[in-house]
Amino acid sequence: MEMVMRNLFQSLAKSRAANKMAKRYGLRFGAGRFVAGETIQRAIEAVRELNREGKVVTLDHLGEFVFTEEEANESADMCLKTLDAINEAGVSSNLSLKMTSLGLDISRELCVRNMRRILDRAKAYGNFVRIDMEDFAHCQISFDILRELRQEYDNVGIVVQAYLYRTMQDIDDLKELRLNLRLVKGAYKESPEVAYPEKKDVDANFRAIIKRHLLNGCYAAIATHDESVIADMKAFIKEQGISNDQFEFQMLFGICVDLQNRLVEEGYRVRVYVPYGIDWFGYFMRRLAERPANVWFVLKNMFK
Ligand code: FDA
Repeated sequence: MEMVMRNLFQSLAKSRAANKMAKRYGLRFGAGRFVAGETIQRAIEAVRELNREGKVVTLDHLGEFVFTEEEANESADMCLKTLDAINEAGVSSNLSLKMTSLGLDISRELCVRNMRRILDRAKAYGNFVRIDMEDFAHCQISFDILRELRQEYDNVGIVVQAYLYRTMQDIDDLKELRLNLRLVKGAYKESPEVAYPEKKDVDANFRAIIKRHLLNGCYAAIATHDESVIADMKAFIKEQGISNDQFEFQMLFGICVDLQNRLVEEGYRVRVYVPYGIDWFGYFMRRLAERPANVWFVLKNMFK
């Protein structure tokens, strides 16, 4: 049953029709628990509140299904506006983005052009931009573009996914770039030809890639809500004498808030990923796919 639900939500996340319909309704069905709001003002308010709680943030302007050059440029403009708003408000947040929303599926040149506009603006503000990793079909080209951009920019990082067989090799190949990597388990539906089908293997590889990246002397953004992984990484970091400046924990807005607070109290750097915007549906569906138990939360909200 759980697998059926997972597949259903992962398919809905990719459905343009469902996404379009959801937009008409505004942030509903409990999506407000996972998405900070539809406007930049609401997003900045959320960042302020999190900063007050001792957490730093990465803001993501949600944008999916970009098919034209105009849509890609508009999406890049929203990233620029987000960077402007962070700077004007004086809050502590960097930016996360998806390259498909900047035109990656239209042309590599268009995407790189938009990335440069965003990285130039971020650089002017002394800010950092994280490229989220999408499905396997976009993995290699994302690393290729990152390598191209790194020749000019040091304020850009990317994400690696523990469920992919290739990731340990990627960590070693990227070592020379001294990258700030976000390490995650992986959120997309992938074939067993490219990704571990069993959760226990994903979890084991997750621990292994984090350790390897830290031992390579690089900065790690350990992005998970898995308490046992967090406990193991804290022990490993202590054992290896790794400084608290070489890593941070990252979690998603509205998920495991008590755990986020506990880590802040213990003196760790905690960054919350805060998505906002009207394109919230795909993101919301991926969160439901990760934890079908969230559906009960949605059903309760539907009848409120
Ligand atoms: P796991 O799924 O094992 O969950 C551990 C525990 O966390 C669960 O038992 C539950 O208590 C809690 N939990 C997890 N997900 C929950 C949810 N949705 N709702 C409520 N509780 C939940 N993926 C990707 O492919 N590309 C990317 O760029 C990113 N970026 C990213 C940024 C950040 C900051 C985070 C935290 C995660 C991502 N991810 C991602 C998503 C990631 O790949 C993964 O799908 C989720 O983090 C869930 O996996 P966990 O590591 O939390 O473990």
